Amino acid sequence: MVVVNVPCMNGGGGETSYAENSDVQIFILLLSQRTVILKAWPFLEETIKDMFSSSFPGCFNVADSGCSLGPNTLLVISKIIDTIHKLCHQANKKLPEFQVFLNDLPRNDFNSIFQSLPEFYKRIKKEKFGPCFVAGMPGSFYERLFPSRSINFIHSSYSVHWLSKVPENLENNKRNIYITKSSPPSVCQAFLEQFQRDFSAFLSLRSEEIVSGGRMFLTFLGRSIADPSSKDCCCLLELLVLLKRLTWIHSICLAIFPTKKKSSQFSGSKVNWDPSDDVNNKSFVFNKDRCGQNVANSIRAVTEPMLASHFGNAVIDPLFARFATLVAEHLAVEKTKYISIVISMTNK
Ligand SMILES: C[S@@+](CC[C@H](N)C(=O)[O-])C[C@H]1O[C@@H](n2cnc3c(N)ncnc32)[C@H](O)[C@@H]1O
Repeated sequence: MVVVNVPCMNGGGGETSYAENSDVQIFILLLSQRTVILKAWPFLEETIKDMFSSSFPGCFNVADSGCSLGPNTLLVISKIIDTIHKLCHQANKKLPEFQVFLNDLPRNDFNSIFQSLPEFYKRIKKEKFGPCFVAGMPGSFYERLFPSRSINFIHSSYSVHWLSKVPENLENNKRNIYITKSSPPSVCQAFLEQFQRDFSAFLSLRSEEIVSGGRMFLTFLGRSIADPSSKDCCCLLELLVLLKRLTWIHSICLAIFPTKKKSSQFSGSKVNWDPSDDVNNKSFVFNKDRCGQNVANSIRAVTEPMLASHFGNAVIDPLFARFATLVAEHLAVEKTKYISIVISMTNK
């Protein structure tokens, strides 16, 4: 399958880089992924505890699909290792060796992750967490990535809502890059069918790679309302389209966000567009301009490479300055949240 129009994150460490934007704890930090990971953590911890309630493997092979780069990349892996360490300690069992595979598209900046590994290994050694071997696994998760029955646990956060390709038959959606209120039903159907094809392929590929009894834990963008053109999905992209009629790009390959089904394996959470504005759970935005800027920076970190390759670098600064204003105007009227869906699965 061909992966097109999937934005890879800005590499390096500049103000608008993905690494900088993901670090929401220190400054006015702009991307919600870290908050999403932390909100999903209690469910993930439960999954790990459940896995280790019956068996303690000698080597634990874990993969993170769509790992990207920056401080989030090793965050989940560190927390998983910490938890397993505690469980082994409580059960008086030997800590397993860890083999960690970081998977993303080949153009992801793997080098910047590898440069952070010495620090990571130092900590592992200091805490006496046993040998841990980290490797990059460049490739699309819509293809086979690992040998058959070789992986104990696969984690993926905010990645599998990226489709393998832009859906076909979107001719009627010319003035949009995604589903909007004005999109005909055939457009929603095209996104839905592409998502169903991709997600089925993803599940079936991973089921070949995960050992029997192994687990997979996925967090991705969803929606709380049945209508796929509701604000849960489309609002931010609609604001971006207002700036330039992005007809050049035809469409972005973002999945039609699924809704949560009632099942013990599904859970969900909400994170503000600007996660640094999550304090006290208040229902209004205290500083709309600052939030507008934060949201614009986080969207810029995700979309800049794609936009710059179509428009050139010169348009990027003015485009996102204007986008920040539009987002601020929107947030003044309505504080808006991303909806996340969390799924924990066991391979039979
Ligand atoms: C929004 S980032 C999420 C990063 C990280 N998991 C986090 O939570 O901070 C989505 C990542 O998925 C990757 N991605 C998208 N489609 C992919 C595919 N088909 N195969 C592998 N990675 C993919 C992108 O390159 C990007 O790095």
